[in-house]
Amino acid sequence: MEKSASNGVATAVPAPWNFAPNETLLGLTALLVRAVLARVKAGMDCRTRGAAARRGTSRLGEANKQSTGSAACAPPPRTEGRVHAAQRQPNLVDLDDMCLLCCDVRLHAWAAWGACASSGPFVESWWRDAFRVCQCIPGIPCVSATAPTPLAFGLEPAQRSIAQYLSRDLPYTLSPDDVYLTSRCAQAIEIICSVLARPGANILVPRPGYLFYEAHAVFSVMEARYFDLLPEKDWEVDIDGVQALADKNTVAMVIVNPGNPCGNVYTYEHLAKVADTARKLVIFVIADEVYAHLTFGERKFVPMGVFGAVAPVFTLGSISKKWVVPGWRLGWIVTNDPNGVFQMTKWAASRDLDISSDPPTFVQGAIPNLLDYTKEEFFQKTIKIIKESADICWEQLKGINAITCPSKPEGSMFVMVKLDISCLSDIKDDMDFCCRLAKEELVVVLPGCAVGYKDWLRITFAIDPSSLEDGLHRLKSFCLRYKKPTK
Ligand SMILES: Cc1ncc(COP(=O)(O)O)c(C=O)c1O
Repeated sequence: MEKSASNGVATAVPAPWNFAPNETLLGLTALLVRAVLARVKAGMDCRTRGAAARRGTSRLGEANKQSTGSAACAPPPRTEGRVHAAQRQPNLVDLDDMCLLCCDVRLHAWAAWGACASSGPFVESWWRDAFRVCQCIPGIPCVSATAPTPLAFGLEPAQRSIAQYLSRDLPYTLSPDDVYLTSRCAQAIEIICSVLARPGANILVPRPGYLFYEAHAVFSVMEARYFDLLPEKDWEVDIDGVQALADKNTVAMVIVNPGNPCGNVYTYEHLAKVADTARKLVIFVIADEVYAHLTFGERKFVPMGVFGAVAPVFTLGSISKKWVVPGWRLGWIVTNDPNGVFQMTKWAASRDLDISSDPPTFVQGAIPNLLDYTKEEFFQKTIKIIKESADICWEQLKGINAITCPSKPEGSMFVMVKLDISCLSDIKDDMDFCCRLAKEELVVVLPGCAVGYKDWLRITFAIDPSSLEDGLHRLKSFCLRYKKPTK
C-alpha cells in the first residue's frame, strides 16, 4: 500500500491506480474533428497566432465555436529552405471556421434576459449569441426566472412550437409529443445511439460523414457500417451499397441533409429512394437536418419527414445553425411516423428513458418567440453571405493545382475537395498537407481523415469574403510551391 504524509503529499512511488482510460474512447476521440484540428494546428507558430487573434484577424469561428488565441508562446521556429508565409504575414486564416455568421451582434431588448443569466464564465458567450439574434425578434421572450423544471421531453410550449414549425413542410401535422428536446443536436445523436444500441446491432452511416455518429455508436457498443456518398452524383447515397451492407441486425441508416462535410442538398426524388430502401430493409431513417434551410443553390431543402409514412424517420435538429445560436444549447429529436410504427414496435418507450439532462429552461422558454418571430430578413442575410462565400470558393478552387472540387456546394457551409497527392512533392497524405499548410501559411483546413475520407480536404467557407480569398490564395501558393516538376 502506498504511504502518504498526513499533509496529503505522496511519499512513495504510487501503486498502480485502479482506474485507467477507456481505450475505445481514446481511439475514437483521436479521430474526431477537434482532435484532428489540434494536431493540424500544433505546428503553427503560437506567437503569431496569439497576435493575430488579439488583433481580431480573419477567423471564421470553427464550427460555431469561439476562436481563441494561444497564450503560452515560444519564439517562432527558424526554418531552412523555404521561406514560410507565417514569417512574412502573420495572419491566421481558418478555413475550418464559421465566424462570418457570428459578427452581426446588436444589443437590444435582450437585457430582459439578464435575470436568467446573471453570472458564470459562460455568460459572455451566451450574451454574444443572444445579441446576435436579438434584432430579429420584436419583443422580449416571455421567460420567467422561476420557470418550471421541464419533464424529460421538454417544456410543452417549446415542444408545441417546434412541432408547428416543422409541420409547415410536412404533409401531416406533428404533435408536441413527437418532439423530444435535447441539449444541442450533438446530444440528440448521443441519445439516439444509446437508445438504439443492443448486442449485435449495427447502424449505417455515410462516408464521408460526421464521425460523431460513429463515435457514439461504437461507444454504445453498436457497430457502425459505412455506405458511400457518390462525389460524381452530387454526393448522393450509394443505394446499392446500403442494400449490400444491411443485414437482420441493421436498425437504422443516417443521412445528413444539407450535408456536412459535402455541402450536398438532396432532391425529393433521391430522398424518396432512401425511404423506399429503408422500408425494404425494415429499418428507420435518422435524418440529421441540423443545417435545414441553409441552402443557396437550385435545390430547395426537403425534410426527410415528408416520407415518414414510407419508413419511420427520426429528425434531428437544433437552433445552432439556422438561428446561429450554438451557445443556447437546444436541439431536438422528432418522430416522423404517421403510421405509428414506433408505437407498434414499442420502440417509442425506449425513448422515454430519462437518462439525459434537459436543455436550459430559459432557452426552452424563448423557443416560441425565436421560431415564430425571427424576421425573414435574418435568414435571407445569412443565406446571402454563405452563398457569396460559396461562389468565391468554387471559382478560386478551380485555379489550384492538385485540388479538384467534384460538385458545387448547395447547402450547409462546407465543401469537399480532392487532393491529388501524386502531383505534389514531399507530401505524404491529407494530414501531412494540412499540418504543413497550417505551419507554413497559417491556413487551417480540415484533413479528410477527420470525416472518414483520406486524401480529401473539407473547406468551411462561412467566413468573410476577404479572409476567404486570402486563405484560398495562400492555399494556391502552397500547392504551387509543392508542385512536382513536370518531366
Ligand atoms: C451534421 C451535424 N450534426 C450535428 C451537429 C451538432 O450540432 P449542434 O451544434 O446543435 O450540437 C453538427 C455540428 O457541427 C453537424 O455538423
